[in-house]
Amino acid sequence: MQLILGQVLDIWRDPFVHGTCDATRFDHRGAIAVDQGQIIDSGNAVTLGARFPHATRVDMGDALLLPGFVDAHVHYPQTGIIASWGKRLIDWLESYTFPEEMRFGDPAFASACAERYLDLALANGTTTVASYCTIHPQSVDAFFSAAQKRGQCVVAGKTCMDRNAPDGLRDTAQSAFDKSAALLNQWHHVDRLHYAITPRFSPTSTPEQLEALGALWSEHPECLMQTHLSEQTDEIAWVKSLYPQARDYLDTYEAYGLLGERGVYGHAIHLEAREIDRLAEIGAGLVHCPTSNTFIGSGLFQAAALKQRGLRVGLATDTGGGSSFSMLRTMAAAYEIGQLAGSALHPCELIWLATGGSADVLHLGDDIGNFAPGSTADIVALDLESTPAISQRSARAEDHWEALFPTIMMGDDRAITAVWVAGKRAI
Ligand code: GUN
Ligand code: ZN
Repeated sequence: MQLILGQVLDIWRDPFVHGTCDATRFDHRGAIAVDQGQIIDSGNAVTLGARFPHATRVDMGDALLLPGFVDAHVHYPQTGIIASWGKRLIDWLESYTFPEEMRFGDPAFASACAERYLDLALANGTTTVASYCTIHPQSVDAFFSAAQKRGQCVVAGKTCMDRNAPDGLRDTAQSAFDKSAALLNQWHHVDRLHYAITPRFSPTSTPEQLEALGALWSEHPECLMQTHLSEQTDEIAWVKSLYPQARDYLDTYEAYGLLGERGVYGHAIHLEAREIDRLAEIGAGLVHCPTSNTFIGSGLFQAAALKQRGLRVGLATDTGGGSSFSMLRTMAAAYEIGQLAGSALHPCELIWLATGGSADVLHLGDDIGNFAPGSTADIVALDLESTPAISQRSARAEDHWEALFPTIMMGDDRAITAVWVAGKRAI
């Protein structure tokens, strides 16, 4: 048994629904009791100290203890091409992404990239990610193996594409079904690993492939399904030309069995009214990728409005369309996009999007994203004075939100002082 001591912030339910106060427990001198990788309890340090007098104490001083960040949409194979200049979505994919993804047929290359990616994510306090892989099954094996070795909870799947992608980066409807099924059977629910059926997006799949993956999902409804939706206006026009009979972009998924409660739809920026109604009715999850949306020039996600419609929303870097591995940088970008879209997200809402909100979108809220007893002890410790610029601002703070907000807006991996994965120190 260990007691990790510090400031403890647990946003244990959705602040967009319950309000920031009622969603939050905060202890200025708090503690988290951890045993065998699990959270036993969290709360006041004196109270927990008296309850567990023999626990090993790990005192993090003034550091703020939060659940490990959950990055709900990344492409680990794009680690090496992050920050590639000057293109918009479709030509960015063709110029930078596809040539890089071609290299993942080599298991050694895939495994080196998976390790490097997870090192970077952990250094930024991110303990769980949902990653697209490439069309190569080796890229999935490499990622799951690397995460399993580290005891991490991750979601991943083989990216499926059978058109509008270069030679060497296409599968077929049948091979996408067969290889996804084999990987799912091999990896899903092994340790903390979760398989997500992963059609890249409608433009790179034929209707036959979408239908095959819809059939696979109906055979394995316990799995997640991740894809992209309505990221850029040019992309949406392309989807309309490829699927002339579809009512809208979402309909290209809906028609083939790829709309569901366990569906995770990345970006979802330029949604039509029917799409929002349908996503809300189904209870599907959306993932906001703000640094990507500004970097690729995609548009402004309507976080507050979509939350008001009752949708699940998570937060993500979208590495390497996004320009940072840091969920702090990502929260800052979400704040800025919120401002441009007309509503200032509260620090509580930002932290929740990066923890409980993303966990909820991935249906992993029982394991990660909060400090509820029984959750796995994935924890990050933040230094709220990690740079002179931040500390001179937080020194003036009148409450814990004001102390935290400068780190959200100006912080990066220098603010991450410790990370635990399943109770074991990883950083
Ligand atoms: N849409 C389809 N594939 C991708 C991708 O790799 N990154 C982003 N940002 N959007 C996509
Ligand atoms: Zn993406």
